[in-house]
Amino acid sequence: MATFLKNKTISVIFLSLASMVALGWTLKQDDETNYIKLDKAALKKDSIASVMAFKNVYKVLMSPRCVNCHPKGDVPLQGDDSHLHVMAPKRGLDGKGVYAMKCTNCHQPKNTPGQHTPPGNPDWHLPPADMKMVFEGRTAHELAKQLVDPAQNGNKNIKKLKEHADDALVLAGWNPGEGRTLPPMSHAEFKKEWLTWLNNGAYAPAK
Ligand code: HEC
Ligand code: HEC
Repeated sequence: MATFLKNKTISVIFLSLASMVALGWTLKQDDETNYIKLDKAALKKDSIASVMAFKNVYKVLMSPRCVNCHPKGDVPLQGDDSHLHVMAPKRGLDGKGVYAMKCTNCHQPKNTPGQHTPPGNPDWHLPPADMKMVFEGRTAHELAKQLVDPAQNGNKNIKKLKEHADDALVLAGWNPGEGRTLPPMSHAEFKKEWLTWLNNGAYAPAK
């Protein structure tokens, strides 16, 4: 009787553990396929059109106006040569700087007139420390994969990604302040390529 109870207890514990693991696994699977699942019906799946569009998207993402805020380290970049930001302001947990060195000390809601003055935006900051959204140094293949991964893109599904084309900080790239070059195509062209890439299956180039 004692042995029977013991065995029963063990199998109950075992079964509960097993179902917890299985549940965890299912949730994780759901999470990872989030973006595909939500939008499967809307996707046209044309890998050639998708990859061609991403190659143009990539040119914009890697332009100084975008990469300067998507650095691999914790210091933003500056200038058309993407050098490390003078005085090295740090990302901080929320991307808004640390201690007395907050981005908004210098970056006002609007561009400051003149050469070599801080560009402005009410929400000027880097992606947060736990979701760095690095563009610097990424190949087109790596970046395309990263952009649609909810664990790396701030939990964006395809709808949110599409909307991000009109995000205020993205638009800021086309209003960079005096003396800075514009991204290599207009915002309208960028948006068209971005949507073409996503609508056709968000395929990653081979390299
Ligand atoms: C002032 C800094 C800043 C600039 C400039 C900037 N970004 Fe960002 N970007 C951010 C921040 C902060 C986030 C995270 C906030 C969010 O997800 O809404 C982000 C998120 C993103 C994302 C979503 C994240 C992902 O991995 O899918 C994309 C796409 C993006 N930016 C594209 C661009 C493009 C394109 C440009 C240039 C035209 C640009 N960014 C310029 C700060 C910036
Ligand atoms: C002490 C003032 C100061 C602080 C603090 C500061 N910046 Fe700047 N930032 C500037 C100035 C000035 C420029 C323009 C430099 C130039 O054009 O030579 C600039 C330029 C930039 C650029 C380049 C924009 C472009 O399009 O090339 C980025 C990106 C940037 N800052 C991000 C940040 C972020 C993010 C923070 C907070 C973590 C921050 N800055 C904090 C003064 C500051």
